[in-house]
Amino acid sequence: PAAPLLDPFQRAISYLRVSVTDRCDFRCVYCMSEDMSFLPKAEVLSLEELDRLCSAFVGLGVRKLRLTGGEPLVRRNILWLIERLGRHLGTGALDELTLTTNGSQLARYAEPLVAAGVRRVNVSLDTLDPDKFAAITRWGRLDKVLDGLAAAKAAGLEIKINAVALKGVNDDEIHRLVAWCGEEGFDLTFIEVMPMGDIGTEQRLGQYWPLSLVRGELAKRWTLEESDHRTGGPARYSLCRETGRRIGFITPLTHNFCESCNRVRLTCTGTLFLCLGQEDAADLRAPLRASPSESGDDAALTGAIREAITRKPKGHDFVIDRRRRSATAVPRHMSVT
Ligand code: GTP
Ligand code: 5AD
Ligand code: SF4
Repeated sequence: PAAPLLDPFQRAISYLRVSVTDRCDFRCVYCMSEDMSFLPKAEVLSLEELDRLCSAFVGLGVRKLRLTGGEPLVRRNILWLIERLGRHLGTGALDELTLTTNGSQLARYAEPLVAAGVRRVNVSLDTLDPDKFAAITRWGRLDKVLDGLAAAKAAGLEIKINAVALKGVNDDEIHRLVAWCGEEGFDLTFIEVMPMGDIGTEQRLGQYWPLSLVRGELAKRWTLEESDHRTGGPARYSLCRETGRRIGFITPLTHNFCESCNRVRLTCTGTLFLCLGQEDAADLRAPLRASPSESGDDAALTGAIREAITRKPKGHDFVIDRRRRSATAVPRHMSVT
């Protein structure tokens, strides 16, 4: 087998996040502007090309693939890619094939996802209030997402809800989210809002709610027991004794989890970003297209991947300084990576 991917800080890269499209049927305020312009279709890799790229990473020791977006389930024929990638589960080369989705298409996709080998999905849901939901997503319908979640549960998918903690928006709902996830049998992860792209830095500053404070609030109502459960992502989990479900905390701003980073991010145009919060990147589309798949020769591609990993930065530098009312962001949007 090939030597594992090791970065300059001796971190093994075992988790590839793939944004299969930058498009989405929602426009969450912290993720996209209302009049987002999307990548020209001609620049977007075909599903065959994405399969080849992902498979090259699996060949280099990646054990976990997560499809993201945008919204991965709005990409046409996405099931074809998921089914193709599922073959690596069958051979034992891959431990997990999963998605992060907004849930709007889950009602139709839940069963075929399970058939393709997906066992677990992360679903973004910041509020259980239909009006607030429509305000955050700009026009999304909560009932559609709830239908999607019901279908996913019925199909046997394990579900984790991702909720971005937003002061003044969903701060009055954290207990309700915990209780509801408990009833539904879902895990729940809170995320600190990160300044990304050119969208509303002022607003992000105002909404930033450190998870240390969220945890303090939760502890007034729930018993949070320490847990060493890990999912390979950045969340640190507690077990909520009353609900029996896990509550995760993703704290890019208050706690730096970069020292154990195991992941890199691929965009739908074939750019590999080495860190969510840095601009370091490599183009994999050129080496991919330089040797056609029929040739079976992936040497240029695997060489380019190995070279890129040697440039993975130590960590991000997201900072929110509430006193100075300033934030350092990366220029790209979450939807791209
Ligand atoms: P699990 O497999 O369940 O651990 O998933 P995950 O947390 O890796 O994936 P998900 O797509 O649910 O990510 C949740 C959020 O974590 C993302 O939207 C980001 O806000 C944050 N996140 C994920 N990876 C990174 C990272 O490498 N750096 C930073 N700063 N944030 C990240
Ligand atoms: N800060 C934190 N989380 C974000 N997400 C999107 N944009 C941001 C941001 N600026 C979250 C979504 C989803 C996940 C993929 O990323 O809510 O759960
Ligand atoms: Fe779409 Fe997710 Fe971004 Fe919301 S956070 S606009 S659902 S990609």
